Amino acid sequence: MVLNEHRQVIAVADAAALAKTAADRLIARIAAAGERIAICLTGGSSPKLLYELLGNEPYRSRIPWHRVHWFIGDERFVPANDPLNNMAMARQCFLNHCAPLVNIHPVATDAADPDEAARRYEIELKAFFGTDRLEPGHPLFDLVLMGVGPDGHTASLFPDYPALTETGRWVVGVPMAAVAPLVPRVTLTLPVLASCHEMLFEVSGVDKRAILSRVLAGEQLPAARAHAVGETVWLVDRAAMPENFHG
Ligand code: 6PG
Repeated sequence: MVLNEHRQVIAVADAAALAKTAADRLIARIAAAGERIAICLTGGSSPKLLYELLGNEPYRSRIPWHRVHWFIGDERFVPANDPLNNMAMARQCFLNHCAPLVNIHPVATDAADPDEAARRYEIELKAFFGTDRLEPGHPLFDLVLMGVGPDGHTASLFPDYPALTETGRWVVGVPMAAVAPLVPRVTLTLPVLASCHEMLFEVSGVDKRAILSRVLAGEQLPAARAHAVGETVWLVDRAAMPENFHG
């Protein structure tokens, strides 16, 4: 179902099919990429099945681990080994046993505060990509994974929060999340998340049906405002798909 020439909704049967479809799209993006590949991961529970697939066959041997660099679109400002830490979940699911340590780029949650962590991550991103400019013709990331929260947030960009409309900074601190886990956050901003060949949302489960209905109806929620300079894809399983949505 195509929403427009750069946005599409792909319906899949269930969470397992969603994870496999996402893994196949990630492999395709890697195959289409240049020598050095940048993937921006997301947190929450939705990507867990995908991450476990990537760390096991047949996907594990299809990823050129030495060429792929892994970033995180937002982070809970908790210690690196805290179960709430998004990169910790990705490390546990696949990065720790697949990716070279130098290719894993976590947010420094041992910084003094979220703003300092954001400043450090922004410096790291600009140094890695060798630019401080976002150019539509030269997206930073090959793939950006995203989710949608119960309030329509994505990454840690919450409705009506200043971070949502930030256009100068690449990474900002969020003093307190609007939904659980109620901890401070660090988040990439919309323009830098948009700087990608593909933005891929994973939306699974009946609990997502209500918020997805609002996004697909065009309500300007953060998740609806997030899109790639390249292709924006919403992977939605049957449980999450609104009954009246026909694309
Ligand atoms: C986070 C995530 C967040 C997530 C949504 C959906 O730090 O929590 O980055 O944006 O994608 O909240 O979370 P679930 O996948 O757990 O529903």
